[in-house]
Amino acid sequence: MSNARERNLALDVVRVCEAAALSSARTTGRGDLAYADDIAVDSMRRAFATLDICGTVVVGEGEPSEAPKLYVGERVGRWQPRDPEVEIALDPLEGTRLCARGMPNAISVLALTQGGEFLRAVDSYMDKIAVGPGGRGVIDITKSATENLHAVADAKGVYVEDLCVVILDRPRHEALIREVREAGARIRLITDGDVAAAISTCIEETGVDMLVGVGGSAEGVLAAAAMRCAGGDMVGRLKPRNQQEIQRLVDSGIKDVDKVLTLNDLASGDVVFSATGITDGDFLKGVRWRRGGAVTHSVVMRSRTMTIRFIQTQHRFDGRPEFGEL
Ligand code: FBP
Repeated sequence: MSNARERNLALDVVRVCEAAALSSARTTGRGDLAYADDIAVDSMRRAFATLDICGTVVVGEGEPSEAPKLYVGERVGRWQPRDPEVEIALDPLEGTRLCARGMPNAISVLALTQGGEFLRAVDSYMDKIAVGPGGRGVIDITKSATENLHAVADAKGVYVEDLCVVILDRPRHEALIREVREAGARIRLITDGDVAAAISTCIEETGVDMLVGVGGSAEGVLAAAAMRCAGGDMVGRLKPRNQQEIQRLVDSGIKDVDKVLTLNDLASGDVVFSATGITDGDFLKGVRWRRGGAVTHSVVMRSRTMTIRFIQTQHRFDGRPEFGEL
C-alpha cells in the first residue's frame, strides 16, 4: 500500500470506529448488552461500505453460523479493482458490559493489515502479557509473573514496586493476583476491557506498565495490532477451555494450539489501528453529546511510522437525537 493511500486509510478507519462508538454510546448505562452490541455492529458495518478497500474480516463477531454481521470471512469495503486487499480485526464494542453499565474504558476498535496477517483467533481465550516500549523484548509467557515483573522493572530502570499491573478481576486470576502482590507490584483490577488496558501500557500518562492474565483471544489479536503500532510488546498463548474450542482453532488454521505467540505471530504486516472512546477511559474520552451533534475522541496509529494520533471530531446531526451522516 502506498504511504499516501495508507494515510488516507488511517482517517477512514477512524470514521468507521466513530460510527460504532456514536451508536453504542447512545445505549450507555441502559443495561442492555445485546442492544448495545447490535447497534455498534450495525453502524460499523454500514460505515465500511464507504471504504476503498477489499477487506476480509478475519477476527470479527464470530463464525458465520453464529454472527449474521461482521462475521469471520465477511467481505467489507467497496472491492473496486485497484483497492488494496486488507485483513481486518474488529470489535465494534469492546467492553459490552462497561457500556451497558456506564463504566469506563468501553471502546470501539478496528485494525487492518496489509502484506501480513492476523492470527485466526476464533472465539477462545489467550494468556497474555503486554508492555509498553520500555519493556519491549524482555517478556516471556513461559516464565512466571514474578520473573516477568523483574525483567520489565530492570528494563525500565525502576523497582518492581514502581510497576502498575492491570489484571482482569476473575476467579481464574486468584493465584496470579497473589503472586503479583507478593512480588510487590501495584495492581489495577478491571472488570472488562483488556484491549484498552494493553494500549494503556504504551501511553505514559495512564501510569500502566503491564497487562497480564487470560482474556479473549480476539482481544489478544486486537491488542497486538495496537502494540505493533505503538512500539510496545506482547506475547501470548492460546488457552482453549475445551476440546470443542481446540477443534475450532485447528479448523481455523492454527496448527499448534500450544505455540508461544510473539507479537508478529499475532499481527504481522503493515498495520493500521484505531479506537474511539465510548465511555470515558484512561486515554480516550467517551462520546460527548452537544446541541446539534456530538464530539468523539479517537486514536489512530500506523505500524510503518509508529505515529500515534489523537483525533477529536465534531459531528453535526441537525439537532436530531440520532446521529446522521458521518
Ligand atoms: P466483550 O466486549 O466482548 O464483552 O469483551 C470484554 C472482555 O472484558 C475483554 O476485554 C476480555 O478480553 C474478555 O471480555 C474477557 O473474557 P471473560 O469476561 O469471559 O473473562
